[in-house]
Amino acid sequence: MCLLFRLYFLARRMHLSWVKSALVLWRNIMIKVGIAGITGYTGEELIRCLYQHPKVKISSLYARIEKPIHFSSIAPRFNKKIDLMCEPLNAEHMGDNCDIVFLALPHTVSMEFVPFLLKKGKRVIDLSADYRIPKDSYELWYKHEHTDSENLTQAVYGLPEINREKIKGAKLLSNPGCYPTSIILGLAPISKLISQCLIEPIIDSKSGTSGAGKKAEASFLFTEVDENLRCYKANEHQHIPEIEHFLSYEAGANIKVHFSPHLLPVRRGIMSTIYLNHESFSSIENIQKMYNDFYKNEPFVRVRPLGKFPEILDVAETNYCDIGIKFARGMLIIVSVIDNLLKGASGQAVQNMNIMCGFDEKEGLF
Ligand SMILES: NC(=O)c1ccc[n+]([C@@H]2O[C@H](COP(=O)([O-])OP(=O)(O)OC[C@H]3O[C@@H](n4cnc5c(N)ncnc54)[C@H](OP(=O)(O)O)[C@@H]3O)[C@@H](O)[C@H]2O)c1
Repeated sequence: MCLLFRLYFLARRMHLSWVKSALVLWRNIMIKVGIAGITGYTGEELIRCLYQHPKVKISSLYARIEKPIHFSSIAPRFNKKIDLMCEPLNAEHMGDNCDIVFLALPHTVSMEFVPFLLKKGKRVIDLSADYRIPKDSYELWYKHEHTDSENLTQAVYGLPEINREKIKGAKLLSNPGCYPTSIILGLAPISKLISQCLIEPIIDSKSGTSGAGKKAEASFLFTEVDENLRCYKANEHQHIPEIEHFLSYEAGANIKVHFSPHLLPVRRGIMSTIYLNHESFSSIENIQKMYNDFYKNEPFVRVRPLGKFPEILDVAETNYCDIGIKFARGMLIIVSVIDNLLKGASGQAVQNMNIMCGFDEKEGLF
């Protein structure tokens, strides 16, 4: 299976259509996926997407436990659906039992597993921030030494709308952060204009509480979050270098942003409202056309008619990013919404897996 898997990707890279056809049969064989971090929010979402995926088989589940226990005793909602033991986190076990491993683990933990899995010839999709940005930026913003520089330089950033071709050949896929997904998609169609006009977008984002993971922290208690709205890490959030790095990559020139996140008392969803003040945006019909053209073939981005803004409930529980733009009183305003656990994490990870494996990009996703 592993050999076929490698042959297939080699054929894709070399554009060998005869080998590709010879391997058509293989494409109907299920790929074995493992998921690490299944007690967390994104781990559970991965299971929900992959469980209904027709081309993959969930072969192994991993959690921070001492010895194997039945998965349904950790997650009763999957009882009678998934009959699997959950294993302790163990790179060798992952290497022996999976073709692709999803790491839904905190940053700094993922890089403990990646080097071994890649050496074993496995493909890895990492949801953490460990392989998204260059080493110096990572160490500055995440305040932790990066111990896997070699693989960091090989990792492919998994935002399909700007990086699809590279994703096809990725061995290590670095899945984007949730805020960066909503913001980069909100700005990508006009990134060149932004850099040419030296504009620094001002971004106000609001996220549901699942964006912070299952943390036992006082600031995330129901009584602290419910009926409240809180700004945090104003213009110093660790997602800033990721947003700037990949917007600049798309524009081909440096872009600087100002970004302040807020904690919204909903379970899931992100709304990013982006302000750009420049006379070049007054031709709003042209700007709208740039958005429509940029995303016309994208399966998971929907652009609203001019002047109509999307809402979080339009995308909650889906893998869509919805975008609306408007020009008012000298200001271009862009609203971009996603479900942080799907397009902002697990849904996008499955979309990336589909691209890496040559499946229909929409498979397993709503
Ligand atoms: N939540 C989002 O919206 C979102 C969006 C994009 C990216 N991400 C990224 O995706 C990753 C997972 O996020 P999440 O929201 O699912 O987090 P989460 O709900 O906090 O779950 C984290 C998972 O990692 C395990 N874990 C925690 N510390 C560990 C350690 N030191 N060693 C081994 N395992 C450990 C947890 O196990 P225990 O149950 O034992 O603690 C849990 O299974 C993070 O890197 C996060 O930044 C999250």
